[in-house]
Amino acid sequence: MLKGKRILLGLSGSISAYKIAHLASLLKQAGADTRVIMTKNACRFIDPIVFDTLTGNRTVLDDFDRTNESPVSHLDLPKWADVFLVAPASADIIAKAAYGIADDMLSSAIVGAFSCPLLISPAMNVHMFENAAVQENLEKLRSRGWTVVAPGCGYQACGDSGNGRLPEGEELFEWLERSCGAEKDLSGRTILVTAGATREPIDPVRFITNRSTGKMGCALARAAALRGAEVTLIAADMRVEAPNLVRTVRVSSAAEMFEAVKCRMAEADALLMAAAVADYRPAVVAREKIKKRDGEAVTLPLERTDDILLWCGERRRKTQFLCGFAMETEHLLEHAAEKLKKKRADLIVANHLRREGAGFGTDTNIVTLLTAERTEELPLLSKQEVADRILDRALLSDAWNQGGDRSHAQGEESDAGISKQK
Ligand code: CTP
Repeated sequence: MLKGKRILLGLSGSISAYKIAHLASLLKQAGADTRVIMTKNACRFIDPIVFDTLTGNRTVLDDFDRTNESPVSHLDLPKWADVFLVAPASADIIAKAAYGIADDMLSSAIVGAFSCPLLISPAMNVHMFENAAVQENLEKLRSRGWTVVAPGCGYQACGDSGNGRLPEGEELFEWLERSCGAEKDLSGRTILVTAGATREPIDPVRFITNRSTGKMGCALARAAALRGAEVTLIAADMRVEAPNLVRTVRVSSAAEMFEAVKCRMAEADALLMAAAVADYRPAVVAREKIKKRDGEAVTLPLERTDDILLWCGERRRKTQFLCGFAMETEHLLEHAAEKLKKKRADLIVANHLRREGAGFGTDTNIVTLLTAERTEELPLLSKQEVADRILDRALLSDAWNQGGDRSHAQGEESDAGISKQK
């Protein structure tokens, strides 16, 4: 996504500056053209030669002397850039950006930037970060259209613990992808994605679950975020990290997932239900660990969980796009077509479990997309590409284009008293 993109990085003084070396390397590997501006204090934490080497471009330093290629680098570079990321951003550079102070190369470049998207990634001690002046300055930048990357929470070099850690290179890379790598055809849309395997407790140490890893749901959440949507991921047990650019709500059982979806359904423009939700749970959860007994078979009475997709299908607004998944070992397309109708979905993504390259834990998938109008089998694709194809279908759907004119959809917008909260 960042191939051929022109990335401008601005570093101010922080112990976390070393993380930008990794980011510069990731950008080089992705085929981006990267230029770096460093303040005097940034140069005390990492030598500019690191960036000269990793980017293949001469780092622009905080001196208006003749070592810089152009006497007006502070104007040329922001004009050249597709995106400008200031990271790590100290309290000082944040204040300068907020007040338009231009007293060195980096702050002058910030004041001189007028056409490219601007991102700022604060990095400082937790108490400095929480200081009202810093927060007010960040708010000022947000109100002017800057994207403020939320810092991470945890151990800090000074020994304190809390908010203020610079995100890792991979996360900053994703922010750059989001800001200039993909077409923002989902901006203004709110998307709810479910992912992972639910766990249904038997007793305090055991549970029933399944083999879903959450990869497909995470790919969907990430792709939607990169395309500009506001994404909430309702994540059950997953074998992969939740994507950085989305709000993640952790749940465990089908009942918890149901509650989390119910609370957020009204605000969603699309519901993409990729989670593998248990259909049954133990009817009684033992308070104490169940002890084995010699020679006796044990039966575990099970009861049905709520079918979340069905519930959403019955209560959806006509303008909400609803997508479910089907994974079968036999008669996949027949079952998927039944699900499409029964659950009043716009799209069912049928997973070819038994084909090579498809199914649990793989990075690729083979799926067939079923709508009321057509059935399309996609070739072997990465889960990220499958995610994009699903999102393309949302963009083309009747739900988003004609207010949900589907033959099998029933009910008016107010059927279940659910209306979109503005
Ligand atoms: N789903 C759900 N709530 C459940 C079970 C499943 O929302 N309690 C959703 C899944 O997230 C998925 C789709 O429904 O999008 C799967 O449909 P379902 O008919 O439940 O599939 P299976 O359980 O795989 O099929 P079946 O029970 O018909 O064998």
